[in-house]
Amino acid sequence: MSDLKTILQEATGALTEVMTMSDLEQTKARFLGKSGSLTEQLKALGKLSPEEKKTAGAAINEVKQQVEALINDAKNRILNAELEAKLAAEAIDVTLPGRTSGLGGLHPVTRCLERIEALFATMGFAVADGPEIETDYYCFTALNTPPNHPARSMQDTFYVLNSENLLRSHTSPVQIRYMEAHQPPLRIICPGRVYRCDHDATHSPMFHQIEGLWIDEGISLADLKGTLTQFFRAFFERDDMQIRFRPSFFPFVEPGVEVDIEWENKGGKIKWLEIGGAGVVHPQVLRNGGIDPEKYSGFAFGMGLDRLTMLKYGVNDLRLFFENDIKFLAQFR
Ligand code: PHE
Repeated sequence: MSDLKTILQEATGALTEVMTMSDLEQTKARFLGKSGSLTEQLKALGKLSPEEKKTAGAAINEVKQQVEALINDAKNRILNAELEAKLAAEAIDVTLPGRTSGLGGLHPVTRCLERIEALFATMGFAVADGPEIETDYYCFTALNTPPNHPARSMQDTFYVLNSENLLRSHTSPVQIRYMEAHQPPLRIICPGRVYRCDHDATHSPMFHQIEGLWIDEGISLADLKGTLTQFFRAFFERDDMQIRFRPSFFPFVEPGVEVDIEWENKGGKIKWLEIGGAGVVHPQVLRNGGIDPEKYSGFAFGMGLDRLTMLKYGVNDLRLFFENDIKFLAQFR
C-alpha cells in the first residue's frame, strides 16, 4: 500500500511539472509503461492469493485511474500552452500603420529633359546618344581643337591615366559621331552626362548638357536664333521672351556665340542669363565628320540641362539634384 502512495505522490509531482509532450510521454512510461512502477505492481498481483488479489487489484486500479487523470490534465495543459505560444508568436498588431511601397516619381532633371525632347521633336529634331568615356580625338581634335591648342584648357577635363580616353567634358563629340554615321539633312539633339573638375553651388563634377545640331543646305545663324527663340518661349511658357547672342569663341564654330535669355524685364531693365554656347559649325568640323562644307552648312548649340531645370523650378542649389534627398525629390512628383 505504501508503495502505491509513493507512486501517486511521485506521479503527481512529475506530472504537474512536465512542460512538453515528449516529457509527458516519458513520464507516462515511468508509471504505466511496460516496466513502469504501476505496471510492476499489477504484475506482482499474480503471486497473491485470490482474496489479497481483489483488494490489492482494486487499490492499484484506483491509483492507475488517478494517474491517468493527471496525465490527461497535463496533456491539456501542455496543448493549451503550445497554442497560446503559437498565437502570441503569430499575433498581428492591426493598429500598426502598413508598410506601403510608396509612389516614386521622375527626377526633376529627367522631367525637364523629357519636356525638352518633346519640344524639339515638334521642330523635327531626333534624339542621339554617345559614349561618356570618350577619346581625345572625338572630344577635342575632331572638334577643331588640335593638341596643345589653348582652348583645351577652357574645360577642366578628367583624363584617364595612361590612356587616350577621358570623361567627355561636353556633348559636342556626338556631333562628329553622328556626322560620321549620317549624311545631311540631319537634325538632332543629344542630351547626356558630362564631366568637369568643378564643384560648388552652381557646378557639379558631373552635370548634363543638351547638344543640338542641324545641318542642311543653307542653314545659317538666323535659323539658330529662330530655333532657340522658339524653344525657350515654349519651354518657359513666355511668348515674348527674347534671346540674345554675344560673340564668343569655341573652336568648332565660326562665328561662335554665347546665348543669353531675357530672364527679367522690369520697365526696360533686363536681366540676362547665360544659358549656353552656340554657333555656325566650322567647315573643318564638317570635313572631319565627312560632310562637304561647300554644299552643307549648319548650326550647333550646347546648353546646361541642370541649369534649365533650376530656372524652370526655381531651385537655387545645383547640388540638390544629386544628393538623393527624398524630401527634395518628392516635391516634383
Ligand atoms: N560644347 C560647348 C561647351 O560645352 C558648348 C557649345 C556647343 C558651343 C556647340 C558651341 C556649339 O562649352
